[in-house]
Amino acid sequence: MTVSPEGKPRKQIHLAAHFPGVNNTTVWSDPAAGSHIDFRSFVHLAQTAERAKFDLFFLAEGLRLREQGGQIYDLDVVGRPDTFTVLAALAAVTDRLGLAGTINSTFNEPYEVARQFASLDHLSAGRAAWNVVTSWDAFTGENFRRGGFLPQEQRYSRAETFLRTTWELFDSWKGDEVVADKDTGTFLSDPAAGTFAHRSEHFDISGRFTVPRSPQGRPVILQAGDSDEGREFAAATADAIFSRHGTLEAGQAFYADVKGRLAKYGRQDHQLKVLPAATFVLGDTDADAAEKADVVRKQQVSPATAIKFLEQLWNTDLSTHDPDGPLPAFDPVVGENTVAKGRASVRMHRDPVATAHEWRALAEAKGLTSRELIIEVTGRQNFIGSAETIATRINDLVQADASDGFILVPHVTPGGLDEFADTVVPLLQERGVFRAEYTGTTLREHLGLDQP
Ligand SMILES: Cc1cc2nc3c(=O)[nH]c(=O)nc-3n(C[C@H](O)[C@H](O)[C@H](O)COP(=O)(O)O)c2cc1C
Repeated sequence: MTVSPEGKPRKQIHLAAHFPGVNNTTVWSDPAAGSHIDFRSFVHLAQTAERAKFDLFFLAEGLRLREQGGQIYDLDVVGRPDTFTVLAALAAVTDRLGLAGTINSTFNEPYEVARQFASLDHLSAGRAAWNVVTSWDAFTGENFRRGGFLPQEQRYSRAETFLRTTWELFDSWKGDEVVADKDTGTFLSDPAAGTFAHRSEHFDISGRFTVPRSPQGRPVILQAGDSDEGREFAAATADAIFSRHGTLEAGQAFYADVKGRLAKYGRQDHQLKVLPAATFVLGDTDADAAEKADVVRKQQVSPATAIKFLEQLWNTDLSTHDPDGPLPAFDPVVGENTVAKGRASVRMHRDPVATAHEWRALAEAKGLTSRELIIEVTGRQNFIGSAETIATRINDLVQADASDGFILVPHVTPGGLDEFADTVVPLLQERGVFRAEYTGTTLREHLGLDQP
């Protein structure tokens, strides 16, 4: 560990690579953009992240194609292949990189998910991670014969029971049962290996778990919900949080909030890493990067995308609205959102009328058109600048306890991380705040987590 000029130990930064996914951060219309399904794209991003000694590769998930106004929402990237299939294939072409998959606890079953993660952890020699998400909407559930079966307020009670049930399954093998003694003909030392029985409000299952204990014992657990219940769930159970609070003030507030919840579960600060999502635009100079960032924002919010964003708030058809004119003069339609389907709840507007008033005030104050306003209020590039500027900024945020690192979301698939790996990472390494080589082999070791 290195120390700062004031003698304070410098925190080590953790970095993850988010495969560009289903939202308008990803610019599929960019001339440099390639396929988001072709295996070579996954390989490119994963191998770039591993070359740069990242902690992990991260796959988000959407279980139903989003729709808006009854049409598939192809202004975002459309379509995702199956998570476990992709991660298992990546395990074969990477060696140290953690492999994190987003798997929903509402529409799946503990036995199947535990089996998949235990298998991935074996195949990857201890690199599996599970981002537990709780989307419960009926629209998505229809794909699983589970349209509307779980009330929203039960999403975390099911998630926590689900997760703890998988832990019972993982722990049904201690790790020393398979002896395969050729002389005595004994395969298992313990005839009860893998036995489980679980009965709760949500599950009633029993049997034998098919996968012997995996290298990490249990996959690393990530959590991405932002509500109070989501944060509590993370404090009780997760090893890392994928948050959306990447700025100094919001990051510090979130960091203090979730770390402050740990003590009542008998846990310590280092047992929960806070990793906000972050986008970046690199340039040769800060001015060059700012110019590029402007172009990227315009690509991310095309005129058509601006209208779709307006419709999500106004909850009505605005297909004839002029994106280059002012915001709609009327208030949003209050009630259930019938226009946009399949969006994660974190992206839904909680008080549409109040938000519309804020947007109108902002647009009037700054003289913005509808599209310019959407560019201003939706998303931001977290890090814009030269490699030097971005390395300094990332390190400052981590040392100031606004995070423990970042999950980087490139806007171009699959080459969007190349320049970061080549220019920012070496600077972080020179400053002694990011590993120059992997020291461990498992993801738990990369993240400094205890073995369960
Ligand atoms: C940064 C971030 C990323 C998320 N990514 C996904 C995702 O890829 N797939 C998904 O189904 N839900 C995703 N979610 C949704 C949450 O995981 C969560 O299930 C949902 O927001 C409900 O929990 P909440 O009410 O606590 O926010 C994400 C949330 C956040 C904050």
